[in-house]
Amino acid sequence: MSRRPCAVVTGASRGIGRAIAIGLAEAGYDIVANARSYNPDDLSRGLAETGERVMELGAAFHPAAADIADLTTHERLLRSAIDRFSGVDLLVNNAGIGTRVDFLETTPENLDRVVGVNLRGAFFLTQCFARHMVERAERGEAIRPAIVFITSISADTSSPTRAEYCVSKAGLSQLAQICAHRLAQHGVNVYEVRPGIIETDMTAPVKQRYDALIDEGVVPQRRWGTPRDVARAVAALARGDFEYSTGGVFEVSGGMNIKRL
Ligand code: NAI
Repeated sequence: MSRRPCAVVTGASRGIGRAIAIGLAEAGYDIVANARSYNPDDLSRGLAETGERVMELGAAFHPAAADIADLTTHERLLRSAIDRFSGVDLLVNNAGIGTRVDFLETTPENLDRVVGVNLRGAFFLTQCFARHMVERAERGEAIRPAIVFITSISADTSSPTRAEYCVSKAGLSQLAQICAHRLAQHGVNVYEVRPGIIETDMTAPVKQRYDALIDEGVVPQRRWGTPRDVARAVAALARGDFEYSTGGVFEVSGGMNIKRL
């Protein structure tokens, strides 16, 4: 029997990461799902619930609790994936946090916290996994080796009440370019997926405000994005449909990328 590819998805306990884990299981991947915590006794939520959905699809599942901002966890996360599935074929950097505080009021602590997860954590996690993926690709063992960064339209859209978040996502977008450039020679493709306004727990506190903005036309396709919209884009990249497009930036924003008059 041929080996199934293995995907590691960070921040997979809910929202977009959960949908990506399920979408990749549908696409034939075994899944290592990360989040800050894991409670195996509560199958109704969190990583355990994601695992139930993944295994219903016939994929193998391995939960890996780790705080991505804590660089000492990265090697352990990689090792657990290798021990369980022999190696990693796809890394999806999805874990992220936000803030909602005006630029004139924000603090160094806010910046450090958001950048610590969204950028610094993802930077060194990717470095750790990329070393493994390069070795594996060169041994000819990897299946379509790739790294996907979930950034945001905030990578190039200003929101003065989320300055830390926007700055972290702009940096993450540049990191995707650097990784694509550096890893292309080793056959590891790197992509950036930029979601727009997606209905998750992260956007729940601003639901009414975004409902009104969407009614007014801020999203040309006139609806919220769903976690599934993002997961479908990641699955298309994972399948290799964009094999000759390393470094590509893929918007999943209902047309918010269109400059309008
Ligand atoms: P969410 O808040 O619903 O889920 C975030 C996930 O990341 C959770 O599983 C959480 O446990 C995990 N996480 C947070 N900090 C972590 C850490 N230090 N270590 C490990 N895991 C951690 O968020 P949502 O909406 O699903 O967002 C997922 C990604 O998509 C984030 O990077 C976010 O910035 C990005 N995004 C979201 C958009 C939206 O409108 N919801 C739009 C554009 C981008």
